[in-house]
Amino acid sequence: MAQILQPTLLHLDRIAEQLSKGEIAAVPTETVYGLAGNALNPEAIAKIYAAKARPARNPLIVHIHNQDQLREIAVVPEAGTILAKEFWPGPLTLIFRKRPVVPDSVTAGLGTVAVRMPSHPVYRELARRCPFPLAAPSANPFGYVSPTRAEHVATQMGSTINWILDGGPCESGIESTIVSLVEPKHPLLLRKGGISVEEVERILGVPVVRQPKEAKADEDGALASPGLMKRHYSPKTPIQLFEGGRPTPAGKEAVVFLDGRDCQGPDDYGLSDSGDLKEVARNLYDRVQTLDRKNYARIHLELPENRGIGQALRDRMTRAAAK
Ligand code: TXA
Ligand code: MG
Repeated sequence: MAQILQPTLLHLDRIAEQLSKGEIAAVPTETVYGLAGNALNPEAIAKIYAAKARPARNPLIVHIHNQDQLREIAVVPEAGTILAKEFWPGPLTLIFRKRPVVPDSVTAGLGTVAVRMPSHPVYRELARRCPFPLAAPSANPFGYVSPTRAEHVATQMGSTINWILDGGPCESGIESTIVSLVEPKHPLLLRKGGISVEEVERILGVPVVRQPKEAKADEDGALASPGLMKRHYSPKTPIQLFEGGRPTPAGKEAVVFLDGRDCQGPDDYGLSDSGDLKEVARNLYDRVQTLDRKNYARIHLELPENRGIGQALRDRMTRAAAK
């Protein structure tokens, strides 16, 4: 059974030591909790895939702590340097051509590697103690909702991992934005996230291609990104989306509003105090996971406007609702 460890110096040292030995541990980041292992150690990588029951064709993000680690694992074009300077540490993942030091299992045999530098202070304290980059997918069983609190990881993965480093609730609450710079002149958005594609375009000064063809749920296509699968981030309870107004539940169904002030009955829930979408993002996965354990026949989920972070939220909600 997994132990939840508070981020004391002793525990940080202990987890860093386990990671150096090729073990894996759940760690906090500002987006969601990750299941981390030494990115340069194929045995650690195998443990990550096994614990998540993740298809081997679905590559992992490598988390770095400094620029030296970046140059060690990836070939970085100027556009990468520019975006890294602007958005790192933070919730932006960039895809580069990889260097041979990165094991094939990390990248699912692709010639490219996904890289991110997280900003969470506890993560950074841990990474500082590890003389290697950390591969870390979200710390949930494949296809389920990502964990944004240590307790979510314990509930979802408690029997398959040993250590969970508790960094509190995640600040951002949804997974990072992913942009491919494999063709630096033609950047490609692979997953929407907390950093909007408009912000990336403003910094780069070139258009970012929006949406490659969506992968089908039964493909874990090496080509694009499983974040693009139609059904992903899904709870067990069926999700029904609504926009504006109030749905009429049939039987014991939960209704989740963006703005908590819209709640009326005992089965109404809010994602924020006043409709602020950053707060909605912070609370969405926690709310969905809590309701998923309450035996509702259905969860009605209100969609936000399709702009700013609302774009990423709509994306996750739509995938959670997909059949
Ligand atoms: O916010 C996040 O990104 C979190 C935290 C832990 O960093 N991580 C996360 O990892 O969401 P994961 O494994 O759940 O999603 C990683 C996504 C997948 O959609 C994967 O296909 C894509 O990144 N990916 C990884 N390497 C890739 C590559 N070389 N080319 C294209 N997509 C890649
Ligand atoms: Mg994931």
